[in-house]
Amino acid sequence: ATFKIGYLVGSLSSTSINRVLSKALISVAPEELEFTEIPIKDLPLYSQDYDADFPPAGRALKDAIADADGILFVSPEFNRSIPGALKNAIDWGSRPWGTNSFARKPTGIIGTSPGSIGTAVMQSSMRSVLSFLDAPQLNAPEAYIKFDPEAFGADGSVTDEGTAALLRHYMEEYSAFVQRVLAANAPGHI
Ligand code: FNR
Repeated sequence: ATFKIGYLVGSLSSTSINRVLSKALISVAPEELEFTEIPIKDLPLYSQDYDADFPPAGRALKDAIADADGILFVSPEFNRSIPGALKNAIDWGSRPWGTNSFARKPTGIIGTSPGSIGTAVMQSSMRSVLSFLDAPQLNAPEAYIKFDPEAFGADGSVTDEGTAALLRHYMEEYSAFVQRVLAANAPGHI
């Protein structure tokens, strides 16, 4: 079986190191995972005024989340929290009220930063938001990645063996987690 993973890159930067990380994660992921990016850059800033008639970008986001077996967030940390563009996308996905797209959807949170905290505080903020949205999260392993330009190629290759092993382990555990949540969500389970 294959499992469809929708991933969101929490950076709008054309030189994003988190986009590099997303490519690296895909390159080492187990073969049962199929990846599709869920773009966030064309979403307007969310307002409840949109609830009566969601614009195409908002609908596309909700459809993409619904279509995915699992969601993976690959994001920088901005000012010790979630980048606004990513939080905006999550707000879109959570609405209109009663149609939260993240409910029971298995998620993973990972990110990289030039600093040694490696997006730990962003990840902690994300856990609060996703818990409120009833999204199960891979709890372990955590991965706080200090970006070493020597370890990554722009194409997603991982030249450092220790980094490759860490990312491979993360994606193997993420795949197993997604499959456990899907089984638990299946009709007949409580
Ligand atoms: C940052 N950066 C940053 N880094 C960090 O480790 N913790 C932080 O709180 C912040 N805060 C922050 C705020 C803003 C507005 C910017 C633009 C940057 C640095 C950040 O990690 C660095 O710019 C990364 O390259 C951002 O990731 P992308 O966009 O390259 O994927």
